[in-house]
Amino acid sequence: MSNLTSAGCVSLVGAGPGDPELLTLRALRVMQRADAVLYDHLVAPALVDLARRGAERIYVGKERDRHALGQHEINALMVRLARQGKRVVRLKGGDPFMFGRGGEEIEALAAQGIAFEVVPGVTAAAGAAAYAGIPLTHRDCAQSCVFATGHLKDGGAQLDWQALTRPNQTVVIYMGVGGLARICAGLIEHGLAPELPAALVEKATWPGQRVIEGTLASLPEKAAAEGVRPPALLIIGEVVRLRARLAWFGAPARALAAEAA
Ligand SMILES: C[S@@+](CC[C@H](N)C(=O)[O-])C[C@H]1O[C@@H](n2cnc3c(N)ncnc32)[C@H](O)[C@@H]1O
Repeated sequence: MSNLTSAGCVSLVGAGPGDPELLTLRALRVMQRADAVLYDHLVAPALVDLARRGAERIYVGKERDRHALGQHEINALMVRLARQGKRVVRLKGGDPFMFGRGGEEIEALAAQGIAFEVVPGVTAAAGAAAYAGIPLTHRDCAQSCVFATGHLKDGGAQLDWQALTRPNQTVVIYMGVGGLARICAGLIEHGLAPELPAALVEKATWPGQRVIEGTLASLPEKAAAEGVRPPALLIIGEVVRLRARLAWFGAPARALAAEAA
């Protein structure tokens, strides 16, 4: 149970990667008693609709070059609403603590003495892996998995190439569409085989999900040819081969989840 009182407070809530049914029960409960919901652009509209009927819905999305509100303004808005005694839900795509600035947002709340809680969500890596049929670990070929951001500054100089090129590991890159060619080239340059399987999962868990498969050498060209756009997640490693047997989402014979829906 939450320890938040009836005074103003903020719940930082993970909305999951897209499929509205991946929202947690706890997130649903918090949304149904919200006075205000501040939501991002990757949050499914169906989820925003789950908020309490009278709740104020405020879009604060940050797309690549189009920010509805800056980070400081979002922080200030949460503080202001909570000080008015409101129960605020800050609804973010995936999990709030995974490349989502959730830590920064609650730091700002803590600094102002605002009560808060964090409700985890299904992060894009978990959603994409499940819905693409690519287990992130597998006893035969991947004993570890590393998550990194592909949002490159300084031409990728900040990426830890050594950590990303360890053997028997799956690499998952968030925000890697723009830097795809440089990331794949960098991984090859730092020792990974050009023929290592790699996949881009675009709009994972959404009805329009697409999975583009290739190798480190071929994926950039394939992705360009297919016109892949964010949000997309890059998964690199031997586990990608398993998809040939394990893909189920969108595959008629195996679409159990779709049938149940
Ligand atoms: C700013 S990060 C936020 C990640 C989020 N907090 C999470 O836990 O998934 C945005 C990136 O997450 C990935 N992402 C989020 N939702 C996705 C989806 N439905 N399909 C594929 N990638 C997704 C993409 O790489 C996108 O560029």
